[in-house]
Amino acid sequence: MTIQHDGEPRSNAVRKKLDAYVPTGHKTYTPTQAIVTSAEGIWLTTADGKRLLDFTSGVLVANLGHAHPDFEAGYARYAEGVPRNCYNAVSPLEADAAERLIRNMNLPSMEKVLWADSGSAGIIKAIWAAQHTRPDKKIMLATRLGFHGKKGLAGDVTGEVSKNPDVRFIGFPMDEVADVDAVDAAEANRETLLPKFADELDALKREHGDNLLLLITEPYLGAAGSFHPTKWYLQFLNEWCRENEVVFILDEVQSCHGRTGNMYACESYGVEPDIVVLGKGLGNGEPIAATVGRAELLDSFDYGEASDTFSGNPRGCAAVLAALDVYERQPIVEHGRTMAKAMRDGLVALRDEFESVVNVRGEGLVWGVEMSSPEVATAAVLAAYNEDLHLLGPLAKKVLRVSPPLTIQEHELHDGLERMRRALKRVEGSEG
Ligand SMILES: Cc1ncc(COP(=O)(O)O)c(C=O)c1O
Repeated sequence: MTIQHDGEPRSNAVRKKLDAYVPTGHKTYTPTQAIVTSAEGIWLTTADGKRLLDFTSGVLVANLGHAHPDFEAGYARYAEGVPRNCYNAVSPLEADAAERLIRNMNLPSMEKVLWADSGSAGIIKAIWAAQHTRPDKKIMLATRLGFHGKKGLAGDVTGEVSKNPDVRFIGFPMDEVADVDAVDAAEANRETLLPKFADELDALKREHGDNLLLLITEPYLGAAGSFHPTKWYLQFLNEWCRENEVVFILDEVQSCHGRTGNMYACESYGVEPDIVVLGKGLGNGEPIAATVGRAELLDSFDYGEASDTFSGNPRGCAAVLAALDVYERQPIVEHGRTMAKAMRDGLVALRDEFESVVNVRGEGLVWGVEMSSPEVATAAVLAAYNEDLHLLGPLAKKVLRVSPPLTIQEHELHDGLERMRRALKRVEGSEG
């Protein structure tokens, strides 16, 4: 049924037209279905003139905020007069963006860049690279309940069951880090907690021996409900892969460009993967992704084997360059780290005030607020909309995602949290 909201004639007309011409499956369910016509900073304006405070950054894409003046000016400068596409030619922007990205990542294993036109396409290229380099190996390990995309091989390594007979899922810390207050204890309890994860991997090693090709994980489980592991867990996976000659792929499609309090989550967790996949924030909204990693792996393709129409197109590369300029010249990541502390304190206070908030967990400016039930979570998203606060539809049915642009100012952050507080009050009030 078409979503409609009282008092929104223009938005309701768009919602109706959308339903008439665009299949439901094209959109991820969000009960508000805000119709946004323009955006600036952390503010979205709807077709009916409602101004929404954006606690989503799109879906963790516009990390620099909407219409960031320096990003937009840089983008316009780099993109001025460039060809619309360069499939059978090369734009210098592509070479420049690859060089700058590698320099910015600043890890010895980050040697080459394979562009992609979406996060999932970047993941597929990472898997292809491992398969091309080591055709004698087959088994792909993926952390259970991870999300790497819906398409092809990216979908195969997503979730907890796979139609691909070569995929095996392994455990990821969830119960151990269910709430932010539990993380320090889990971090300190490596010796007690590690065997659960190590034994599982060792059993797979005994079963599959040299047939183990790759291990793919997100730094934190995003779509599964924002579970942020201990550092030792990811470091253990990294070491285990190195010892067993398994290609370690880190899916930073969502975590890249400052989300976790560092430019890349590999810095936050102290790991050095063989391949890192970047997306979302990479172009601050321009659709571009990148598979970055060891030359030995990414050079395994011959001409055309990893190319497609839109990957590395001039405008995407212009956006990568313009975003890097802003991150390198302005203290965006440092500012995000400062805001992270205010966010943590604010969300923990909400958890302590409201019974319907079960746990909060997160890092940097990517947080999950676990509600008592899917119904309460959906009601909270709608109540937030009534407070002019934009939230994504719940993750894993009952976790509210809080991920504002990194450029959010402290008073705006408190304003957003206060709107959340009023929304939760409404939800609990209407329940009682
Ligand atoms: C961690 C992660 N990997 C991969 C993807 C897939 O990216 P895309 O939707 O651009 O294909 C997403 C998208 O949400 C993601 O969060």
